[in-house]
Amino acid sequence: MTLTSKKPMLAVLSGETRTPPPVWLMRQAGRYLDEYREVRSRAKNFIDFCFSPDLAAEVTLQPIRRFGFDAAILFADILLIPIALGRKVWFVTGEGPRLEPFDPLAFETLTPERAREVLAPVGETLRRVAPELPDETTLIGFAGAPWTVATYMVEGGGSKDRFSARVAAWQHPEAFDGMLDRIADATAEYLVMQAEAGAEVLKIFDSWAEGLPEPLFERVVIRPTRRIVDTVRAAGVTVPIIGFPRGAGAFYARYARETGVTAVALDTGMDPAWAQSMLPEGMPVQGHLDPAALRAGGAALRSETQRLLDSWSGRPHIFNLGHGITPDVPVAHVHELLACIRGRA
Ligand code: CP3
Repeated sequence: MTLTSKKPMLAVLSGETRTPPPVWLMRQAGRYLDEYREVRSRAKNFIDFCFSPDLAAEVTLQPIRRFGFDAAILFADILLIPIALGRKVWFVTGEGPRLEPFDPLAFETLTPERAREVLAPVGETLRRVAPELPDETTLIGFAGAPWTVATYMVEGGGSKDRFSARVAAWQHPEAFDGMLDRIADATAEYLVMQAEAGAEVLKIFDSWAEGLPEPLFERVVIRPTRRIVDTVRAAGVTVPIIGFPRGAGAFYARYARETGVTAVALDTGMDPAWAQSMLPEGMPVQGHLDPAALRAGGAALRSETQRLLDSWSGRPHIFNLGHGITPDVPVAHVHELLACIRGRA
């Protein structure tokens, strides 16, 4: 038996169609699980939690034990990269991330060369998780895409429409692109380190790829993502790479062709008919159940799950949500979803 046939997720990423498809959920380690909240309460704060390999490895494994998902995703956060670059990041409970707002004109003060050293505990988390996984379970590493990470750095946290980041991208293109390049270089180094530590798939989260005009999409999403993929490949890393340009709409087609990613993760609003015709033939896709349908459960969850299974039956497909699971989802709904997908409903 080859390695890929043993691991459904790797088989699909190599171009096979599997029925039923492999399944995992974005944010599967999270507050909807009692056992996650228990471990979380042992950490001083969220950043410390991410940098504690024993705690991070434990919560990475929890959803595998409970649900038998086909993949485990490293427990960490996309906002560890700004820390590696020398910025301060903290989380305000109930509100989300906060950063000291960064002026892109100061891009030369960022320190991508420190990525490996600062992020070493994340490699340790992967090394602890890898030997604990069942043979058929795939280990996913990840990072944020430069644009999404830059929006948090410039805005100082989450924002409604990333307006300040877009203004900066238009107003100071050289500095802004210099900042994106430094984020990309730190991220590539980080992803190579993750592959060396046991990640079998890498995922790049561009959660804020939405609402950009074509010239900016090209400059801040496609170009820096391609820079990461090229750098990771040049380092000899061959693992599949999944790109998630959330909200990219029609630009998904160019993203799929021009960034060098192996597969694309689709968001909730994507039209399967459009995506089937516009994405490169045979390219694997991941997604894209509405997290609200999972929260709703019952008949809506079952019919929506079936619609996606039918829509993607002709293409290599990894079942997932279109965005992260919400903290209010009853565990029973996740079991119901898995029963639908795996044919034991
Ligand atoms: O289970 C997994 O998917 C792996 C771990 C993971 C986390 N964050 C843990 C986390 C992953 C892959 C991420 C990615 C991430 N982080 C993204 C991209 C994906 C997306 O959702 O669009 C973004 C934008 C972030 C930044 C971030 N981290 C925000 C905005 C927040 C606050 C919102 C919230 O849900 O509280 C976080 C915190 C965070 N990251 C939590 C978890 C489990 C919740 C923190 C807690 O336990 O209190």
